[in-house]
Amino acid sequence: MAEPFNAVDVIGHKRDGLRLTDAEIDWVIDAYTRGVVADEQMAALAMAIFLRDMERSEIARWTAAMIASGERMDFSGLSRPTADKHSTGGVGDKITLPLAPLVAVFGVAVPQLSGRGLGHTGGTLDKLESIPGWRAELTPEEMMRQLETVGAVVCQAGAGLAPADRKLYALRDVTATVESIPLIASSIMSKKIAEGTASLVLDVKCGSGAFMKDAATARALAEAMVGLGSDHGVRTVALLTEMDTPLGLTAGNALEVAESVEVLAGGGPGDVVALTIALAREMLDGAAWDAERRGDTGLAGRLREADPAAALNDGRAMDVWRAMISAQGGDPDAPLPQATATETITAETSGVVSRVDALQVGVAAWRLGAGRARKEDPVQAGAGVVLHAKPGDVVAVGAPLATLHTDEPDRFTGAKTALVGAWTIDDSAPTTATTAADAVVLDRIALD
Ligand code: URA
Repeated sequence: MAEPFNAVDVIGHKRDGLRLTDAEIDWVIDAYTRGVVADEQMAALAMAIFLRDMERSEIARWTAAMIASGERMDFSGLSRPTADKHSTGGVGDKITLPLAPLVAVFGVAVPQLSGRGLGHTGGTLDKLESIPGWRAELTPEEMMRQLETVGAVVCQAGAGLAPADRKLYALRDVTATVESIPLIASSIMSKKIAEGTASLVLDVKCGSGAFMKDAATARALAEAMVGLGSDHGVRTVALLTEMDTPLGLTAGNALEVAESVEVLAGGGPGDVVALTIALAREMLDGAAWDAERRGDTGLAGRLREADPAAALNDGRAMDVWRAMISAQGGDPDAPLPQATATETITAETSGVVSRVDALQVGVAAWRLGAGRARKEDPVQAGAGVVLHAKPGDVVAVGAPLATLHTDEPDRFTGAKTALVGAWTIDDSAPTTATTAADAVVLDRIALD
């Protein structure tokens, strides 16, 4: 059958700054998924979109076409309301680990379809795979059962969800077209909407360790994603959060699991706890909206009144964590893997730490073996960085700043090079303490 459009014309329209028509968008996404539009043509179109931008209605149609390229999951048959969270990625961002069980404590289904890390930000599945026995692949039936019984699931997204995005994201990665707001927003939201959650909380990170380095671009991305979610009937709220400084004191797979378990035991670093609670509060509100929509006003009221901090302190979140890990074959009591070699770096001057650069710490953890350069690379479970000094801490010459962990000591040199200048040490205290709990969440973006 003849194709209704020609890829060269569609590329030309966007190159010349025109709005693509709905029919052009539907066709180009479908034809690319079918292999009729070639990679080089889609790469040219992605670059034209990168340079020319898209209107809001154009992004909405592009997103809808990507959703339509694959399956959609449906959680409406569950007895629980659903709430999901997506983070745009950062260094030391282990928040999904304590957050998913914490929200499930209150009777919410939390379907966290996650990915593996690429580059300097870690992947949630890589972190959980450091727990002996834990497996990321679940069948849709296993996932549904676990959502109904335990409430929280963190697993690998099936290949059937938004296959157009899977192809396009890989292409953007190698054609310098990742950092485009319409392309990022449609990529993330097509997967989240296809996943079928009723409500969604976005953690849009901003700073050196994030995709979006400045607040204005992070806000524009957050607004685009909140708009897309709402247009598709998913109650969507975004928190703009700080990512100039790594989250918590660890970056690396097993190291981050250990820190998450501390948070679930009622301890852990203040910034990790604060962000976990802030996101839990938003997810509980989203789930309350879903419960109300399902006619369960009693549950909606209880979710709005729920106290997530109490559930971290009294062991309820830990109980769900243990059930969640066990349900996926993991042993929550097994010792976590530890790297075979460590090296500590120390302060060269005395004073007050005013900055620890998230990107540099992320690159160091990656070079130590915690992350991968190519999709098919393995990761080391025990590798990473443990921070001893964060903004606001007073250090003397020779005081430890961080301990580097790896199974391959020849990686230390590259990691230490990445960390040169990562700590800024001043004579006096910083004017803003970036680890203070109230400094983590910069803003909230919602349509209501
Ligand atoms: N994550 C995604 O899933 N897509 C993007 O485009 C960027 C980050």
